[in-house]
Amino acid sequence: MHHLIFEPSSAAFDKCAALLRSDELVAVPTETVYGLAGNALSEIAVRKIFTVKGRPLIDPLITHFKDAESAFSHTVYTRAAESLASAFWPGPLTLVCEKLPVIPDLVTAGLKSAAIRVPSQPHMQRLLRLVDFPLAAPSANPFGYVSPTQSEHVAKTLGHKIQAILDGGSCEHGLESTVLDIRNPSKPSILRPGPVSAEKIESVLGCELLPVQPSTSGVAQTSPGQLMKHYSPKTAIEIVEHGDLEGLPPKGSAFIANRKPALNDSKDVYWLSEDGDITTIARNFYSLLQKLDQMKYKQLLVENAPNRGLGIALNDRLRRAASK
Ligand code: TXA
Ligand code: MG
Repeated sequence: MHHLIFEPSSAAFDKCAALLRSDELVAVPTETVYGLAGNALSEIAVRKIFTVKGRPLIDPLITHFKDAESAFSHTVYTRAAESLASAFWPGPLTLVCEKLPVIPDLVTAGLKSAAIRVPSQPHMQRLLRLVDFPLAAPSANPFGYVSPTQSEHVAKTLGHKIQAILDGGSCEHGLESTVLDIRNPSKPSILRPGPVSAEKIESVLGCELLPVQPSTSGVAQTSPGQLMKHYSPKTAIEIVEHGDLEGLPPKGSAFIANRKPALNDSKDVYWLSEDGDITTIARNFYSLLQKLDQMKYKQLLVENAPNRGLGIALNDRLRRAASK
């Protein structure tokens, strides 16, 4: 299986670039999660992304660019987008803007808008510069499953369907990018909370964001991240309010705490950080879910995070993972 995973040597970059140039897919590391990348300007490549991921064609993809200049040559320029780009790119912020015809309708599921972002992860940057076309990439997991934060997660779930995974170690943030709709620059709204917080965006734009829309299942959505059941492991998840995880897990269950408990003598108690640091908690979250989903637990009892900053994004993913 692991002949798929390429250490980031010059030869590996050449191999990945060659695959992408011939409309094949490559799983790539980003600073958020691993992506399943293909040439965003090639309908053949984009169609493969949907097929390999088992993703419905109505679910639009994010297009990744090497820099802001390249991103804005594929979308309608606004000053708001420009200010956000200079504050947060390269980095974990995705902007939903009006698209130009050069982006195929297949990428945006027929929508007139496109989700664009400039990733900071150095291997991803190098690959984008090598191929010199933008890369469409959803998270590199089967549709609905937990997002991958290590190359092994991709190998385990999609390895039989792709030819290469570019290894970039563990992803820095471990949660997907913040998705911000700025089609109407005077009414920006967060479609998916992520590592770039609402407060940081508000301070750049100098205006308040619309409150995050409550997620709904089934109905047509502006954003696929709003699908309620998403990011879900096979094992059932119950959410426990912050601070309420006490005693020992019931037989067949495991605890996932934010921080290492003072007293612990159970092998079924796990933690996301030593000290409750939210950046560490977020970084380890999907990876621990991936690991525990391979074990035989009937249920995972997961403590949510304090609902501020990155904790908002973590709690959002946890709710979706727990939804039945
Ligand atoms: O961090 C990330 O964003 C990762 C890495 C690989 O970049 N990608 C990712 O892609 O999470 P995916 O396909 O799993 O999630 C797609 C997100 C949706 O949640 C949605 O918010 C947004 O992209 N999206 C894409 N096109 C859109 C559009 N035209 N309008 C609104 N939202 C859109
Ligand atoms: Mg995803």
